[in-house]
Amino acid sequence: MAELRIEGLRAEIEGKPILQGVDLVLRTGKVHALMGPNGSGKSTLAHVIMGHPSYTVTGGRILLDGEDILELPPEERAVRGLFLGFQYPAEVSGLTTGKFVKRVLEKHPARNMPVTQMIKELKDALTRMGLSQEFINRSLNEGFSGGEKKRMEIVQMLMIRPRFAVLDEIDSGLDIDALKDVAEGINSLRGPEFCAFVITHYQRILEHVHPDFVHIMYRGRILTSGGRDLVETLEAKGYEWLRKEFGIEEDEHEYVHN
Ligand SMILES: Nc1ncnc2c1ncn2[C@@H]1O[C@H](COP(=O)(O)OP(=O)(O)OP(=O)(O)O)[C@@H](O)[C@H]1O
Ligand SMILES: [Mg+2]
Repeated sequence: MAELRIEGLRAEIEGKPILQGVDLVLRTGKVHALMGPNGSGKSTLAHVIMGHPSYTVTGGRILLDGEDILELPPEERAVRGLFLGFQYPAEVSGLTTGKFVKRVLEKHPARNMPVTQMIKELKDALTRMGLSQEFINRSLNEGFSGGEKKRMEIVQMLMIRPRFAVLDEIDSGLDIDALKDVAEGINSLRGPEFCAFVITHYQRILEHVHPDFVHIMYRGRILTSGGRDLVETLEAKGYEWLRKEFGIEEDEHEYVHN
């Protein structure tokens, strides 16, 4: 079992504080969901976990099996088993999907394999995500539709087999069939060596990927955590309920609806 422990994490971007003391413990074998209104800091948390250079960590720690990883560059964090599926995957011009996956796997000792084997597994992963084999020779994400980009994030996750997969709104923009394919992809890795951290606005994906824990982020903190019933309550009552429940004063500048 591996553990990713986030303690009192504070982070800012361009001098603006976003994360205001995040405490969270993720362990392999479990699936966690993270919900919260627009702008509450979910993507910021995902990026800071991966070590995105635009964010400045101003306090707290991120411990992977007891080792503080905050000083490590993103590539080192990936080698240690962290993976981020982006809310907005970037287009990589001039590098085919096949070559990209090959390069990534070369850096993962446990997943380094002969090219023929890699192509076989990649074809299988593409099929499972409803993408044709042609994608192997297309520049990564270039000209892909929104849903295709999201499916490709899961293809990469299936190839890398990370220990901790942070999936930022992997369900947004997916059609109904793709949603099921993506959920099956996540479920196929479920086991004692894998943890998914699913950031989402909607109950739908969580009906397929059953989270063990649900956390709600609000203004840069984890406001509350619970089981799946928390999603149902939230879906039924909205963030207005949450504010009342926790005695939070409304901020007129804040978005609370999607
Ligand atoms: N470069 C930046 N400069 C200033 N503020 C920023 C910058 N990047 C992000 N922010 C702000 O940080 C806050 C948190 O953004 P973040 O993307 O983490 O929210 P989120 O919870 O993922 O929202 P969503 O549900 O809409 O994806 C927002 O108010 C956003 O405007
Ligand atoms: Mg976001």
